Amino acid sequence: MSMASFAASWRLLALMTLGALAATPAVAALSPAGAALLQAKCAGCHEARADGSLERIAEARRSPEGWEMTVGRMSLIHKVQLDDGTRRTLVKVLSDAYGLAPSEALPWRYLPERRPGGAEHFENQLVGDTCARCHSYARIALQRRSEADWLRLSNFHVGQYPSIEIQSNGRDRNWWEIASRQVPPLLAKLYPLDSPAWARWQAQTWVKPGGNWRVVGHRPGWGDYEGVATITETAADEYTMTMELRYADGRSEKASGRAILYTGYEWRASLRQGDQDVRQVFTLSEDGSHLQGRWYLRDVDTLGGDLAATRLAGTPAVLAVNPEYLKAGVAQQLEIHGTGLTGPVDLGQGVRVLRELRRSAETVVVEARPGANAAVGQRTVKVGETAAGDLLTVYRRIDSLRLEPDRGLARIGDNGGALATQPAQFEAVGYIGGKGGKTLQRIGVFPAQWSFANANANARTYRDASFAGRLEPSGLFVPAAAGPNPKRKFGTNNTGDLTVTAAVADGKRRIKAAAPLIVTVQRWVDPPLR
Ligand code: HEC
Ligand code: HEC
Repeated sequence: MSMASFAASWRLLALMTLGALAATPAVAALSPAGAALLQAKCAGCHEARADGSLERIAEARRSPEGWEMTVGRMSLIHKVQLDDGTRRTLVKVLSDAYGLAPSEALPWRYLPERRPGGAEHFENQLVGDTCARCHSYARIALQRRSEADWLRLSNFHVGQYPSIEIQSNGRDRNWWEIASRQVPPLLAKLYPLDSPAWARWQAQTWVKPGGNWRVVGHRPGWGDYEGVATITETAADEYTMTMELRYADGRSEKASGRAILYTGYEWRASLRQGDQDVRQVFTLSEDGSHLQGRWYLRDVDTLGGDLAATRLAGTPAVLAVNPEYLKAGVAQQLEIHGTGLTGPVDLGQGVRVLRELRRSAETVVVEARPGANAAVGQRTVKVGETAAGDLLTVYRRIDSLRLEPDRGLARIGDNGGALATQPAQFEAVGYIGGKGGKTLQRIGVFPAQWSFANANANARTYRDASFAGRLEPSGLFVPAAAGPNPKRKFGTNNTGDLTVTAAVADGKRRIKAAAPLIVTVQRWVDPPLR
């Protein structure tokens, strides 16, 4: 399944959920037990306001990771004594009462999901220029505050980090003037404390994710996978999950672990998957019918995959097609994955279904061949009455190639140190069109031959390509060991400034694409939201 189709289905979910429900005033839903916990742990410093809610705490809303950071700071800086269990309960209580609506968190999911690569988009340039120099913009956009509280945040920054005005290029402007006068009203407008979306989400009954699920996904470097999952509620908003995954290349994995659901939709799980520990950062759709997001290896978050789950007993659906493309004139085996699949397979005009090889309600395998002159582009895949429009592309030739991610970041590590190396996984994605201003149409991921070289004169001087790491046939760049290297010029460490190139064969043609790759040092301070 392509990233593009994940993004498309997200947009669809977002559109579907922007209902026309009337706004009701936001009344924070603290349970009596939750209120008592805040009273016991926080009210010593945070005074009760007229309505009984606590100063500062009720004046902002955050993601679960945002609350984790704030509560962590209360312990770290203000010496609030909390054991691990109490801290976890606090994060849950606070995220449920003072969280974000699904639509508020939606554009910024890449941050908690720890999606590798890509540059951030600043929703507001002045806020970005003033505030997103030490940490991400998304850390800010994943909060909602009153204007007074946004101002207090600027005050906190200067109080806690007095050198803020002169570090991180802060001297290029009158930082404090901007941060205290211009930024708070802007942020209060962009990311306000009270919103119709949050009022509506609080008024809504939150659906629980327990049940049986059909799973499809893509793991860069490994390929597509599909399977089933079972989710069981063990205590309020606490779950166990088991999964069985089958990869397109024949590999399979079992997974099992535990999850917590925050704010009615923020799914955070820790599982043992195959022989690795993974974390899931998923979102439950507002109607409880879809669970979707990214998972990553606990110690190496650059590696992981996308996952989309649909209720097994829900409306029949075509969810994934593997491979995601057919070449015109070539007969190929095609796996169609979904739920409740019955009826004949139809791949549209000019694509013949030659024979059916295997069938169940969850998977239909056929052999298909687009005619040599079949129209190129996306195809609707139909199984009986069930159809999906963005899962299969017919192509005649790969017109251009791009790498995903379009810029890579890897980190040296290991070598007896505390931190593992952080590899970078690339994929080569083929496109139709692009020349002469024609829009690009994504075909899918193609097997490629990988190589890398020094990116510039400085890298050549230091011979970065000889020291910074190696590339595996799957497009995985594995960085070299941390620490000074006596074999390098000035005994420097194994960092590097590289260019990674993929070459894909399309018949007799070879198409190439390149992307920059920075191999840098370890990230010693790694907060929940970067
Ligand atoms: C020992 C005193 C003390 C206790 C107890 C305390 N806090 Fe705070 N809190 C502070 C101070 C001082 C600030 C302002 C400086 C800062 O933001 O760190 C603050 C700020 C905050 C803020 C605003 C942070 C921001 O990002 O602007 C929140 C939210 C908060 N506290 C939540 C809590 C919660 C939840 C608890 C209970 C678990 C708690 N505090 C317990 C002293 C305390
Ligand atoms: C000089 C570097 C720097 C700049 C510039 C900066 N920040 Fe921060 N910011 C930090 C650090 C460090 C923290 C972590 C504080 C902690 O939790 O201990 C932080 C934390 C935060 C948090 C999370 C706070 C919480 O606990 O809820 C938000 C939100 C935030 N910053 C917003 C902003 C905004 C808005 C601006 C611009 C007005 C800004 N930052 C500018 C360094 C910076």
